[in-house]
Amino acid sequence: MELPDSIKAIGDQLGGGDVTPAPELFEAYDVFAAEMGQIFTQPWLAVDHASRLGVDGDYVRADVGSRSVVVVRETADQIHALRNACLHAGYRVCEAESGRAEHLYCQYHGWYYALDGRLTDPMLRPKLADRSRFRLPRFAMQIQRGLILVDLSAVGPEAPPAGPVELGAIPEDLGERIVSGRQRTKTTQNWKRLRQFLWAAPELALGVDGIDSVVELGPLSFVALRDGDAALVRLVPRFPGQTDIELVQMPAPGSAPRVDDDPIGDALREHGDNIAAAPLAHGFYGWYWPLIAPPEAPAAS
Ligand code: FES
Repeated sequence: MELPDSIKAIGDQLGGGDVTPAPELFEAYDVFAAEMGQIFTQPWLAVDHASRLGVDGDYVRADVGSRSVVVVRETADQIHALRNACLHAGYRVCEAESGRAEHLYCQYHGWYYALDGRLTDPMLRPKLADRSRFRLPRFAMQIQRGLILVDLSAVGPEAPPAGPVELGAIPEDLGERIVSGRQRTKTTQNWKRLRQFLWAAPELALGVDGIDSVVELGPLSFVALRDGDAALVRLVPRFPGQTDIELVQMPAPGSAPRVDDDPIGDALREHGDNIAAAPLAHGFYGWYWPLIAPPEAPAAS
């Protein structure tokens, strides 16, 4: 895919010192599409805490740009990360953010799917006799230390094997913890500005002044840790100028409740204008460029 000029200019400027991005880098849909293909799908995306999938039929939906995935529990050991796009004409088979269901249902023309993604009832197409080929594609996924992790780069008719994930200092008992709070903050900011702001101040996730450590999970999520408390932050880029932030708080057992139950939302309300005006640091472009324009592998001799 040919990169938009506003992205190519970053590569041209990076070696020479200051980077002066064109406004299109934060506003243009072709830039966003390139980021979708090259960055947003990099593993791993930490979707939520595993307690969201506590009972058979539980599901949770996660969106990244134009892509949507529904993670659904068929049984305790059969959990699927399905492409949330009907095989008929691509509409969503799961509209709710989360819930419990016996099947997935596309409301546009009434096709039904089993919880493993098999097409079971193609309404108005009764002659579609061989349905074995009709199954929602599956992404690689795994649940580790209580986190639902999805790899949007690996998809197939059967779930691709899950590759390694570096979990660092994330507590072993995270899966048994109770989620004390879950907030979503909607913004009109480009995801790059929010990533710079939040990744530079991960303590905001816990509403404290400092943290013990932070574990990055792919380009769009991280877990912040302090005194045993943990909080997951996930960026949800929707459009060039629209990004949501999800915060999942998973305190250590017995820890005192936090005073501020929406620390990121409060910080954004306070600093939103500054975030929009702040230039991206040189280090950000140093991270961004090799992802958006990976070096070509040398030709085989
Ligand atoms: S798009 Fe789903 S049934 Fe038509």
